[in-house]
Amino acid sequence: MERFNYPLNIIAADDPYPTYKWLRDEDPAHYSQTEDVWVLTRYADCSAAFKDWKTWSSQRRGNLLNDLPERVGKTLGTTDPPRHTFARGIINKAFTPHTVASLKPKVRALAQQLCSRAYEKGAIEFVEDISAPFNAAILGAMFGVPDRDFIALRHWLDDFFKREKAPPGQEPPQAIAMRELRGYLANHAEQRQAQPGDDLMSAMLLAEEGGQQLSFDQVVVTTMTFFTAGFESTNNLFTNLTYALALHPQVYEEVRADLALIPAFVEEGMRWDAAAQGFVRTPTHDVTLHDKNIPEGSQVLLHIGSANRDEREFADPDRFDIHRTDQRHLGMGQGIHFCVGSPLGRVMAQFLFEELLPVSTRWEIDLSGVARVTTPNFRGFTRLPLTVA
Ligand code: HEM
Repeated sequence: MERFNYPLNIIAADDPYPTYKWLRDEDPAHYSQTEDVWVLTRYADCSAAFKDWKTWSSQRRGNLLNDLPERVGKTLGTTDPPRHTFARGIINKAFTPHTVASLKPKVRALAQQLCSRAYEKGAIEFVEDISAPFNAAILGAMFGVPDRDFIALRHWLDDFFKREKAPPGQEPPQAIAMRELRGYLANHAEQRQAQPGDDLMSAMLLAEEGGQQLSFDQVVVTTMTFFTAGFESTNNLFTNLTYALALHPQVYEEVRADLALIPAFVEEGMRWDAAAQGFVRTPTHDVTLHDKNIPEGSQVLLHIGSANRDEREFADPDRFDIHRTDQRHLGMGQGIHFCVGSPLGRVMAQFLFEELLPVSTRWEIDLSGVARVTTPNFRGFTRLPLTVA
């Protein structure tokens, strides 16, 4: 048999999970020559690597799969301790349980409004009609962006995640969006510096750790990370959950009849079809794993999507089971980079489905109109036509 090479675009396949299983069983420390990336697919290996930042560095991740060079070494996701510890300490002071609690009324009101409109329309495009406006508005509210700027914000975020190449001689829409968003946020940060408000950007500008503060540029770049990480991950989570419900009508009926099951449904969705399918680390020295030598400085994908289906960790892992008791998924990461937005992401998912399920009378997806996200790390949909009534 010709040597198998893990292709990065496999995560946009309808069902990549049998291939992940093959890798876990046959080649758990896989080197893909075509992509020049190592892929760890077993839960125990990924979990150990997430927890051991001294061996598995995030510092150079931006050069690897998915980041932009100007952000590397400045964002939470591309730093190691002590820089990461300092920045995360500041974020933890600025982004507290109080921040999430104070956003809840806005999350609830917006979810209600979008879902009742969905019910009136009957057939919606889930991303366009619900997920994108919901995410942009909540992130905007979190950072004190005025409502009138939400539309521009949404367009920049949409363009930022486009994957089509620009025609020769033209600036890619991603670069334009990045520049505009950065300019906008820098301007916004200047205003907040002059006149602090009750928002996360003001809190980041003011927070101190050991007598030190984040630089102005770090606040701007960190805010961009919040917008991009928050916007894409939540969209992928919501679309995957919506799709999973259509594939499992009995789960739809059960959860709709008892909305208290929604948090368990959300957790199982995060495990079963992870929105963030993997993150990259760089070993700081050679590592031997499953008889392979993974060289220092190589790029290694910790495959969350596969780890979450590892039969060595989860009973009957391919089954979508909202009652499972072995819920230790890696969908929000693990260790020092564990998702800072997880409490907010969970609340948003919970409120959204609490509003959408009761107004729905059906849950059908028009498969001819779906389009999947095409990035090497994230799995979800950019278009998901859904009929709810
Ligand atoms: C709801 C769906 C979400 C999922 C599935 C998700 C997933 C993840 C994962 C797996 C990581 C770990 C990355 C790594 O180890 O390198 C992470 C980190 C991060 N997430 Fe999320 N996330 C979600 C929502 C959000 C939201 C709503 C925000 C912001 C408002 C956010 C901001 C971040 C940031 C800033 C980091 C970097 C943390 C660090 O490196 O210390 N995420 N996320």
